Amino acid sequence: MLFEAEQAGIHVVPSASIAAICMDREKLRTLAAEELGLPTTKYEFAGSLDELRAAASRIGFPCVVKPVMSSSGHGQSVVRKASGIDAAWQEAQQGRRAHDEGDVSRVIVEQLVDLDYELTMLTVSSSHGIVTCEPIGQRQEQGDYRESWQPAAVEPDRKQEIHRIAIEAVQGLVDHAGTNNAWGVFGVELFVLKDGTVLFNEVSPRPHDTGMVTMISQYLSEFDLHARAVLGIPVTQDHVQLDLPKYAGAASRAIVVEGHGEVEFSDLNTALASAGTDLRIFAKPRVDGHRRMGVALAIGSDIDEARIKANEVAQTLRISVN
Ligand SMILES: Nc1ncnc2c1ncn2[C@@H]1O[C@H](COP(=O)(O)OP(=O)(O)OP(=O)(O)O)[C@@H](O)[C@H]1O
Ligand SMILES: [Mg+2]
Repeated sequence: MLFEAEQAGIHVVPSASIAAICMDREKLRTLAAEELGLPTTKYEFAGSLDELRAAASRIGFPCVVKPVMSSSGHGQSVVRKASGIDAAWQEAQQGRRAHDEGDVSRVIVEQLVDLDYELTMLTVSSSHGIVTCEPIGQRQEQGDYRESWQPAAVEPDRKQEIHRIAIEAVQGLVDHAGTNNAWGVFGVELFVLKDGTVLFNEVSPRPHDTGMVTMISQYLSEFDLHARAVLGIPVTQDHVQLDLPKYAGAASRAIVVEGHGEVEFSDLNTALASAGTDLRIFAKPRVDGHRRMGVALAIGSDIDEARIKANEVAQTLRISVN
């Protein structure tokens, strides 16, 4: 449908072909690793249980199996020994995005790497070219974001590599856009390993959930930057600066609600009592199971204080499910 819209002269953001690449782990990984030569985890693809068994034995254990079409950790599992492969294949088939086009049953199997930390590099493509925001640190649970902070502490000698990978990934996508206005914010996800290696993981062709911290850390949030870029307004390195005192930090904490029913938030007066805190409640009226329904934001004298404050906002907010 996006390709048809583009044919009809509609500006698809960032472009139909970029969306097609980024939603498919096979297309994205092939572009990143084989075409652009970016460092990634060791990986293979498989289209059947037998292929997965063979691929996993070559990759080695522990490994991670993910459907090529899925997000937010759905259908993903860590396999520690060969006997776990069948369950991982089943999990991938149940958790994948339902789709009637192409071979959506395919999976990627990756070596499970020893993460030191994970980063998101918000990278903006605009009429001015490509620039990156300060790195965002993040903590995931079950493949889903819970907390993020900015600026992430990155060793000076890794900064350049992180910057290079983010820019090259987005430049590679823009070169495949099929249009000359592939503009907008991209969220480039990177792994930093215990031995110092930086790996490209994946990229969202839009503002990133961990980038919500920019609603309190930057003069222009990732949403402001996205809107400007899409409108053809140049976004330069000056536009993506932090708006924080020196040494200060900012943090976001996802508000995950569990239960079944309509959700009501109260006690905002207590939750937002301390200076330098803020809150966004998403326009999602109901929860069935568990759902991210808001985000707490905070600035602090350093990252640790900001994380504590954001967590306090999330904890103090009263949430009822009826
Ligand atoms: N090969 C790996 N080694 C170690 N950890 C991994 C590996 N692959 C994924 N993870 C962990 O699982 C998380 C989710 O993986 P990934 O980003 O590939 O999937 P996703 O479903 O697109 O998730 P999301 O939509 O939340 O970004 C990663 O952020 C990381 O914490
Ligand atoms: Mg991810």
